Amino acid sequence: MSKPVRKAVIPAAGFGTRFLPFSKSVPKEMLPIVDRPVIDFIVAEAVAAGMTDILIITSRHKKVMEDHFDRFPELEVALEAKGKSDELKQIVDITKQANIHFIRQGEALGLGHAIGMAEAHVGDEPFAVLLGDDIMHERAGVLSGMVDAYNTHGSSVVALMEVDPQDIGSYGCAATESTDNDRLKKVTGLVEKPKPEVAPSNLAVMGRYLFTPTIFEEIRKTGPGVGGEIQITDAMLSLLDREQMLGYTFSEGRFDTGKKEDYLRAVVELTLERDDVGPAFREILADVCRREGLV
Ligand code: UTP
Repeated sequence: MSKPVRKAVIPAAGFGTRFLPFSKSVPKEMLPIVDRPVIDFIVAEAVAAGMTDILIITSRHKKVMEDHFDRFPELEVALEAKGKSDELKQIVDITKQANIHFIRQGEALGLGHAIGMAEAHVGDEPFAVLLGDDIMHERAGVLSGMVDAYNTHGSSVVALMEVDPQDIGSYGCAATESTDNDRLKKVTGLVEKPKPEVAPSNLAVMGRYLFTPTIFEEIRKTGPGVGGEIQITDAMLSLLDREQMLGYTFSEGRFDTGKKEDYLRAVVELTLERDDVGPAFREILADVCRREGLV
């Protein structure tokens, strides 16, 4: 019987160069979707999939993330005194949804290295990895589906989405075989950012992983790869020599908020869904679209 998946690791220590100059002083994981930072959505997804312990990998210029998940007694007292009970509940609930821990990656040596920082905390347990800038819509149910797959098969699982073949060079790419479950593939190979001509498929690795603890042994053995970074894809490739790995396929609901266009899409789609500001935002959008001749 496999151990349950109860720990999640959220790497959020990267430089976020695609979001400069904003990300020079504010982490891209704190970009707002109206009044909630991106990292809030990631933590909420982990909690919804059953995680009770969350480790955020951060760095020295990203302290504001720790403040976001910490108590703020003076503000709590002020909100209470003003009778702002909804706001008070919101800021306290953020701190109570799970045990949230932080560890610093001293140098941004790559995603594989960032995940390796979690070894002592995770120990001998399976764990989920959610990239700190990748929002998955709850209707896609990606992480929950991956946890179900792990519970059934006991092997590592990685999220895969079909992309335009011309775009595969921006992602980790998986070679796969079918299984008797339409959603699940058997991963037979992995390559980081392949040229489209040599890519084994158009299935891209997308921001969610569920690993057995054996991955840490492989990360320790992994040297710098593409771009001089310690790539998780390389460690996963060595893991494949030892263990079965599954791909959990999904087709929609992913926003790479570290990329400007995708961030804007996330703001628009997720704001439209809100009960409070959604209706007013719809009017604003309709107005802008009419003015710009888009409808
Ligand atoms: P990205 O490549 O999207 O993030 O890594 P980045 O390097 O910050 O962004 P750009 O390319 O410079 O714009 C995916 C996730 O892995 C984390 C990032 O914070 C992001 O959440 N990461 C990446 C680390 O935690 N450490 C690293 O060394 C690299």
